[in-house]
Amino acid sequence: MFLYDEATKRQKAEEIFRKIAAKLYAECERNKGIIPYIPQNGRYEDMGAKSINWWTNGFWNGILWQMYAATKESLYFDMARETEERLDEALANEKMLDHDVGFMWLHASVADYRLTGDETAKGRALKAAEHLASRYRPGGKFILAWNNNDPGIMIIDCLMNLPLLFWAANETGKEEYKEIALGHLETAMRYVVRPDGSCNHIVLVDPETGEFRDNPAGQGYESGSAWSRGQAWAVYGFALAYRYTKDVRYLDKAKTVAHYFLANIALNDYVSLLDFRAPAEPVYLDTTACACAACGLLEIALFVPELEKALYEQSAIRIITAMDGKYCDYDTKTDGILQYGSARYDRASDREVPIIYGDYFYLEAILRLKDQYMEMW
Ligand code: GLY
Repeated sequence: MFLYDEATKRQKAEEIFRKIAAKLYAECERNKGIIPYIPQNGRYEDMGAKSINWWTNGFWNGILWQMYAATKESLYFDMARETEERLDEALANEKMLDHDVGFMWLHASVADYRLTGDETAKGRALKAAEHLASRYRPGGKFILAWNNNDPGIMIIDCLMNLPLLFWAANETGKEEYKEIALGHLETAMRYVVRPDGSCNHIVLVDPETGEFRDNPAGQGYESGSAWSRGQAWAVYGFALAYRYTKDVRYLDKAKTVAHYFLANIALNDYVSLLDFRAPAEPVYLDTTACACAACGLLEIALFVPELEKALYEQSAIRIITAMDGKYCDYDTKTDGILQYGSARYDRASDREVPIIYGDYFYLEAILRLKDQYMEMW
């Protein structure tokens, strides 16, 4: 059996970090003032101008704060603050917000507050947490997803927003934030994760009674399929729930969904298909699922007993090695590092392209291997 030893692991992480850092610095110099999403013909455009409340608009901030924490380069600081301030336009308008305020303000403002102690940043993050809490439906015990008129819609992605509530509960002493996160986790364990470790993307429940209604198709292939990024959200989301609560049921759930993910990517050289239950042809990849899952696996590795660590850590390194070897563009003249990310199965323009959250999770995974990860969730 081949295992990466500590020295090789660090050397690999250092090498990759140097390539990432050179590219990110060049991206920052040519993309001042914009909020990137998917580059078009190798160039980022400003997603902030198109849609200031788009759910991915915090990830650039996450990249900038991670890079500032790791390097202390003022360019990253200045750009992070500028982007954070731009997001105020969305935060000021409740109608623009949905469940993804965690993705946005954990990266924009909780990160700022953790690094700098800035009170304005803290205020922004608490406002976002208040919005997230307001979406909780106590009868059904779930946080309402999107603003699409179905009163009982919950999605797997929202597990990644829960750290905003755990953080806010710790900051304010308001236990109800934690209770809301715990309620949502219980319902997700019941309806979102299937007994075989695969996951639904979307579940509809009765908002009053919490009774299961349906599991319609989401961003994967079809209802009942296994959308890989959703699977990755579950790996990382349950691991983070364990970090905050130390309830071992969440760690067990993270491990269960991780095992399903790992069994599937082992069939494809550690690179994830967009959906693990889609027809064999056409083949669509989603590297963002791999990057996110790698971070989740490294999070799990922090908490399992010594003899279990290798499965999670070594698998994460294999994923990273696969991405570095075949799926990254380190050319400093183009925008976007991790290639072959896919936002959803049914939209060709958003398949197998670089996507900003792929780059964020790839950077986070490398920083974790270097012991330079700044807590973001
Ligand atoms: N949170 C939406 C997505 O994963 O695409």
